[in-house]
Amino acid sequence: MVTECDSVVESLVKAFLDPVTIAWNYQKYVYECTRRCLGDGMGQKEPKLAASFKRWRDGLTTIVSPQTVVDSEGRILVWALPNLPLTANSGSPKILEDGAMSQHELLTYELERSREGDSWRWNRLLFRKEAPGDINGVFNFSPAWFMVGHQGKVSGLKTSPFLTTSAGEAWMSDFLDAGSMISGILRIMHPDQYRMQWEVVLALRRDSRFADVLDVWPSIFQAISVIANRQAPLHRDPKGNYYWYDILVSVGQYTKAHLCLEPLGFQMHNRPGTVVGFSGKGIRHGVAEADGQRFSHAFYLRTDVQQYCGVRAAACMTQEVFRRWVGKTGSEKLVNMARDPFSL
Ligand SMILES: [Fe+2]
Repeated sequence: MVTECDSVVESLVKAFLDPVTIAWNYQKYVYECTRRCLGDGMGQKEPKLAASFKRWRDGLTTIVSPQTVVDSEGRILVWALPNLPLTANSGSPKILEDGAMSQHELLTYELERSREGDSWRWNRLLFRKEAPGDINGVFNFSPAWFMVGHQGKVSGLKTSPFLTTSAGEAWMSDFLDAGSMISGILRIMHPDQYRMQWEVVLALRRDSRFADVLDVWPSIFQAISVIANRQAPLHRDPKGNYYWYDILVSVGQYTKAHLCLEPLGFQMHNRPGTVVGFSGKGIRHGVAEADGQRFSHAFYLRTDVQQYCGVRAAACMTQEVFRRWVGKTGSEKLVNMARDPFSL
């Protein structure tokens, strides 16, 4: 585990030290997004927005090594960590894949059931044509989130039923290493978001309905989606926040699958072991069909739960915050990194 953590931190450092700076001001882009009420990003308003915010370069530039994408004011919009050595192909203890395989066994029923629904997210045409043994589906779960149509009501805050079953408990136990790794990655990518999510967890733990499940919930994130063998058209995830990262992790048995970050003009080879942090609400994105079995895991926090808990919203992550945080030497640096970077 220590070796894997070292590799991940090395990749994060490389990404920070290799930024691509685009000409836009993201705050102005967010203003336009808000003004235009883009919803899930699949409507007719997107082309006009794209015309107002030209990409930094024509066509799509492919990210092949750890990089950050930064706006004109130093806001870090994307952390791209391709091919982290956390899968079977890397020869290391394949932390991420162990979690996925656990799901493979435990979540089959739930994933199969998830085919119901009229959103594009469950559209059968977007799932891979099945081969024997394939699992297709989408499964979202959380220790505490609002049921549809019950946002803000105490009685509407519920634990996903799966997590209260013995299968759910086993999954949470099996996913502990992978979940901890992703939580640690967020701690470095966006320490203020980590602080916010930690405060959300503490607030939810004060509610006796959620204390037990949060004791074993394997992530600082408040919700996880497991997406099995589905491509995604360009879209936005409207329940998130423009300044917080969702983290996407891809694992499985495949060699090709592209993640497109459309407004920025970037794409990534989304190979097994790829981890990406960006706002799914702010950056319209999509994933092409893979050439094999691909599990995508999305880790995220919903704004309505943060507001319900009365926790201060995290600000946008910038290069300056990061430099203040780690820009010391020796023991001073370690002391700084243990602190809330926004207090420095
Ligand atoms: Fe998404």
